[in-house]
Amino acid sequence: MQEIAFIQREELKEKPDTASLGFGKYFSDYMFEMDYHSENGWHDPRIVPYAPLTLEPSSMVFHYGQAIFEGLKAYRGVDGTIQLFRPEKNMKRFNDSCDRLCIPQIDEEFLLHALKQLIFTEKDWVPDGEGTSLYIRPFIFSTEPYLGVRPANQYKLLVILSPSGAYYGDQLSPVKIKVEEQYVRAVIGGVGHVKTAGNYAASMKAQEKAEAGGYAQILWLDAKENKYVEEVGSMNIFFKINGEVVTPRLNGSILPGVTRDSVIELLKYWNIPVSEVKISIEEVFAAHERGELEEVFGAGTAAVISPVGELNWNAQSITINDNKIGQLSQRIYDEMTGIQLGKKEDPFNWIV
Ligand code: COI
Repeated sequence: MQEIAFIQREELKEKPDTASLGFGKYFSDYMFEMDYHSENGWHDPRIVPYAPLTLEPSSMVFHYGQAIFEGLKAYRGVDGTIQLFRPEKNMKRFNDSCDRLCIPQIDEEFLLHALKQLIFTEKDWVPDGEGTSLYIRPFIFSTEPYLGVRPANQYKLLVILSPSGAYYGDQLSPVKIKVEEQYVRAVIGGVGHVKTAGNYAASMKAQEKAEAGGYAQILWLDAKENKYVEEVGSMNIFFKINGEVVTPRLNGSILPGVTRDSVIELLKYWNIPVSEVKISIEEVFAAHERGELEEVFGAGTAAVISPVGELNWNAQSITINDNKIGQLSQRIYDEMTGIQLGKKEDPFNWIV
């Protein structure tokens, strides 16, 4: 494997207080960096002090948006070891994102190795308070100074680390969700199934509107018929209807979440019926009407599980499970975080 160079900082930063972490506000002392040039491929892997970058104003990313990212976490296990959760899934999806935006492929095995080396260097930055973790953010963007529209010939890959607490503050409190009827997140044939920066930029207008109306997040419907459920906020969504769990089937515009996949695996392991379906918002409201809509929750890396307490669609609001945390949502959350922290058995071999 390629040697990873190391450039030492002169002074280490002061670490934030665990209680005040929040999400994504603090960054560790070092980052991983690697560059790509079409003439010599990905080169010069190095661990360097976290610091501002110098880029040409003509760097193509600022104009044509070839920018992708990943998100995963390192946990301080109960025995003190540092644990990653299914990191190979993130490496694979990173390459899927590369492929969609014509960014050159990375060596997944090498990047995972580099990531481990970075985290080992920064092991003192992995927090150990309740609900905390070291959030890992790998990203790639085009750096070539050029204004013609085509895939760039130069890129930078960085991995930065952010000690973080719960994403939504109090982790498991049910949230109010607005079903978005005007804007869409992604279209089939577009880029919604991969993690491009632009997907998140495109989501903000609707999110802003929802917040102004007193809602925490958006529930996204499909772009063509404005009918089928896709995602919630930046997470995948699950419904428990009459004892069975359903989640929207991956259709080309839904992001294949690692947490989504893990929830499905876990439910199968527990012998709880789960299926990936095409589900319309009418069906969800009809299930509520029949008294069969038992639980609704989002699933993603940042928050793990986020219960939905209220859904508003078509000028109608419904309350789910009396706006309380559902039993299954709680059970999944406890099991997932238990596995992530090494408190529970890991029958799936998810932990690295
Ligand atoms: C996640 O749920 O992990 C996300 O995608 C949110 C992240 C972009 C902060």
